[in-house]
Amino acid sequence: MAEVKKIAVIAGDGIGPEVVAEAEKVLKRTEELFGYQFETEHALFGGIAIDEKGTPLPEETLQVCQSADAVLLGAVGGPKWDNNPKELRPETGLLGIRKALGLFSNIRPAVIFDCLKEASTLKPEVLEGTDLIVVRELTGGIYFGEKFRREGANGQEAVDTCVYNVNEVERIARQAFEIARTRSKKLASVDKANVLETSRLWRETVVRVSADYPDVELEHVLVDNCAMQLLRRPSSFDVIVTENMFGDILSDEAAMLTGSIGMLSSASLGEGSFGLYEPVHGSAPDIAGQGIANPIATILSVALMFRLTFGYHDAAESIERAVKEVLDAGNRTGDIAVDKSTAIGTVAMGQLIVDAMRK
Ligand code: NAI
Ligand code: MG
Repeated sequence: MAEVKKIAVIAGDGIGPEVVAEAEKVLKRTEELFGYQFETEHALFGGIAIDEKGTPLPEETLQVCQSADAVLLGAVGGPKWDNNPKELRPETGLLGIRKALGLFSNIRPAVIFDCLKEASTLKPEVLEGTDLIVVRELTGGIYFGEKFRREGANGQEAVDTCVYNVNEVERIARQAFEIARTRSKKLASVDKANVLETSRLWRETVVRVSADYPDVELEHVLVDNCAMQLLRRPSSFDVIVTENMFGDILSDEAAMLTGSIGMLSSASLGEGSFGLYEPVHGSAPDIAGQGIANPIATILSVALMFRLTFGYHDAAESIERAVKEVLDAGNRTGDIAVDKSTAIGTVAMGQLIVDAMRK
């Protein structure tokens, strides 16, 4: 019998509970098919936690996460809490949980499903074969550097500082090399080393770390060129690693190659194998409670958890293959349907995927 893995489940707000319920069915089916064992513990987080506990991130929720092997998160937020003071906003909880759990990288796969190529604004032949992952540094760089205003000779000036230390670069580089190793062994490190000192440190460090990964082919790409190549030949990339701000922009660009936000999974990782897994989309208040949200982003987040935290590649493969089969057979939720009148609901989509899973 496999070791029991503990998963903290945070459904959150809006469509969060609807899509997470389908992902839990996938967990259960994985136990039946593969003999893996999961123990799930539910916790309150976000808007619902504000309503019931008076804070977006209750202490007991943090404890549930800290004692788990991984966290599965739906989505948080909604208009009900938008005008709350900062400490009573769901998004504050999101930043708080990442910090408290030491999550320093954000992993975003962008995979093109052949049958959904019409959902993208790019030509199908450009998208052919695209299957890449953006590894973004999450806790350093210009978003976290010192910022201030001052009076300059020509009026007011604003200053944002970008700081990276060697350790911050090294740990994310190692993580990216490890991920590249489980895929096609190609890593693109993105920087602006022709202009920025932080980028020069980034590149030196990545090169030094690469000595430990001789099996992974490393290339350096300048960020502006990377932005162009993502649109021109996205299939040439496998794993992309980059600093915080470049990663923010490039991961959104890569996401749009795929056409639908309802399909995109993500992970936030720290040291070791622990990770927080969640769909890229938000709580979609406009469709919450209607049973029409696409559960695939959350279901694929479970597959990502299996790959990155548990090393259950067989079960991940089973989920990914099931999703592809169900889509190939023409099943669509409203967000990815060309003819909306034929769209199926959240539960129906989840069940089709569960039924299509095989060992
Ligand atoms: P959103 O991603 O919730 O929705 C954007 C659009 O995409 C909406 O029209 C929505 O109906 C649609 N959509 C999103 N996910 C879908 C799915 N699974 N199936 C079908 N359609 C889907 O982004 P929005 O509207 O900007 O934010 C709504 C709330 O979510 C806000 O309170 C925001 O702060 C929060 N949010 C939370 C995130 C998180 O929990 N990590 C991330 C992004 C936003
Ligand atoms: Mg962004």
